[in-house]
Amino acid sequence: MKDQAENLRQLVNNRDDRQPTISTLNTRILTITSGKGGVGKTNFVINLGILLQKMGKKVLIIDADFGLGNVDIMLGLSSPYNLAHVIFNDVDISDVIIEGPAGIMILPGGNGLLELVNLKPKQLESFIKKLEKLDSTVDIILIDTGAGLSTNNIKMILAANEVILVTTPEPTSLMDAYSVIKIVSQIEQDIHFNLVMNKVENIDDANNNIKNIQKAGKRFLNVEISTLGLLDNSSVVSKSIKTQCPFVLEYPHSKISKQLKSIVNSLMGSDNGKNTINMSTYICRLFKLFENR
Ligand SMILES: Nc1ncnc2c1ncn2[C@@H]1O[C@H](COP(=O)(O)OP(=O)(O)OP(=O)(O)O)[C@@H](O)[C@H]1O
Ligand SMILES: [Mg+2]
Repeated sequence: MKDQAENLRQLVNNRDDRQPTISTLNTRILTITSGKGGVGKTNFVINLGILLQKMGKKVLIIDADFGLGNVDIMLGLSSPYNLAHVIFNDVDISDVIIEGPAGIMILPGGNGLLELVNLKPKQLESFIKKLEKLDSTVDIILIDTGAGLSTNNIKMILAANEVILVTTPEPTSLMDAYSVIKIVSQIEQDIHFNLVMNKVENIDDANNNIKNIQKAGKRFLNVEISTLGLLDNSSVVSKSIKTQCPFVLEYPHSKISKQLKSIVNSLMGSDNGKNTINMSTYICRLFKLFENR
């Protein structure tokens, strides 16, 4: 008789596939991360999600910061549940998701994703079934991760098809962003990095920094790094965080809102339809990665 671990491995192996499947039910999953903390990921994810939703996409934000998730706090929302309740308790995914501004959906992750490896095969199968419901209700999933080079964060990136790496023009932030690309590309070459430079004070300096990181990526890592765009260091951001109303809603005509719109256009322009996967495939990938701790 096969043991439990063997059963799980088989379940995961049968489902995992890096090749895209052509299905209308697939979802575009974008993982947002950074090398250094506090560069503006969560704020970026929320505002990006709202713009995408306003364009007619159904957006789900998964708060996957294993440390201190705060997508809901930034929006003044709260949920009694997180993903761990879906995994271990009889809670349905729809009861965990909270509705945010403009109709975006938010799924607080808690430590749920880290718990995947502790599941029994039946629990994993049932969790996957619950998640599969999302494929028909969501077009784009934005995963807000923690920062840094911790094993867990690198694994979250390795599970992704597309990564948005947020950095600021500060040398330490750039260096840490480069280190993330280096570590990930040495393990998995198929992951595409899109750079967003946030808190920009001087556009020429920012563009030079981007060129340098792109050159280094190509020369030393054989990796093409795309740029989605720049966002100014703007007082509008802290004002909107204080009122818990995202800047694209509170200040839609501000420069930073226009810059974000241009980033959204780049992002939609780079969608070749090949990067969508279904939720079960994604979860199985995560499972495999976190299994090898
Ligand atoms: N473009 C910007 N201009 C000015 N301030 C900004 C900008 N973007 C973010 N901030 C500020 O930077 C701080 C950190 O933002 P945020 O929490 O989104 O970063 P983070 O990368 O998610 O942090 P963590 O790594 O802790 O999750 C906040 O106080 C926010 O107001
Ligand atoms: Mg954050």
